[in-house]
Amino acid sequence: MIKKCLFPVAGYGTRFLPATKSMPKEMLPVVNKPLVQYGVEEAIAAGMDQMAMVTGRGKRAITDHFDISYELEHQIAGTSKEIYLDSIRGVLDQASFTMTRQREMKGLGHAILTGETLIGNEPFGVILSDDLCLNDGESVLQQMVNLYKQFRCSIVAIQEVPKEEVYKYGVISGEALKDGLYRVDDMVEKPSVEEAPSNLAIIGRYILTPDIFDIIRDTAPGKGGEVQLTDALLKQAKNGCVMAYKFEGKRFDCGSVDGFVEATNYVYENIYKHSIN
Ligand code: G1P
Repeated sequence: MIKKCLFPVAGYGTRFLPATKSMPKEMLPVVNKPLVQYGVEEAIAAGMDQMAMVTGRGKRAITDHFDISYELEHQIAGTSKEIYLDSIRGVLDQASFTMTRQREMKGLGHAILTGETLIGNEPFGVILSDDLCLNDGESVLQQMVNLYKQFRCSIVAIQEVPKEEVYKYGVISGEALKDGLYRVDDMVEKPSVEEAPSNLAIIGRYILTPDIFDIIRDTAPGKGGEVQLTDALLKQAKNGCVMAYKFEGKRFDCGSVDGFVEATNYVYENIYKHSIN
């Protein structure tokens, strides 16, 4: 039912300099797979088969990653090394990739709006690949698609964070409909502890209804002078409905060095080691 997933991948990755000077941060590998591929696999697991990427200058490695490498295929075809290409071949067989460029970095809201041309007038998923989400059962985005079927409105993934960390996130408050599910009534982008309506932080997974594009167009720059998706979602919540969902699974903040190292250790111990034995 939801076929498209948007990946805003134009950001700089300053926290990982110099590694990200000429390499997109989304291509940083967690063990043997780039972050963005984890995101794409999660979207495929949620039933989506059209990946829409909002890229920028210096991001060609992402476009090349989701294409065939003839030289590589030719070199290792028929050898024992061919198994190392299995996961990316699987991804390429199951999804199409379209790219558009965000010419200026004007915030997440602006990045989403740049993707309108690839999405059109249908509900879609959004994955911020900095947030690596892993779950043994249904993928986080799949859990959100299930909810979308029930509520037919935008959905944001949330997680409880310590109060002193709310300044890093969009933070919501709302009426609890059941355990872990809220109807949003307030949302603040990167608040101080005093401004924060709760400690329920938005994590980089969204299902958005396409009316969000017009709302973003009408949204003035907010926090940091950037057009914030959080501000547009608050308008959508006030005029209609936005749900916030405390997902099942693990989430690693791979936009930070600590979270990235944590993810690497976790994937190595729990996924990679089992995949090679
Ligand atoms: C973005 C959003 C923020 C959200 C976060 C999740 O912020 O603006 O609301 O909580 O992603 O990772 P960023 O981390 O891009 O600054």
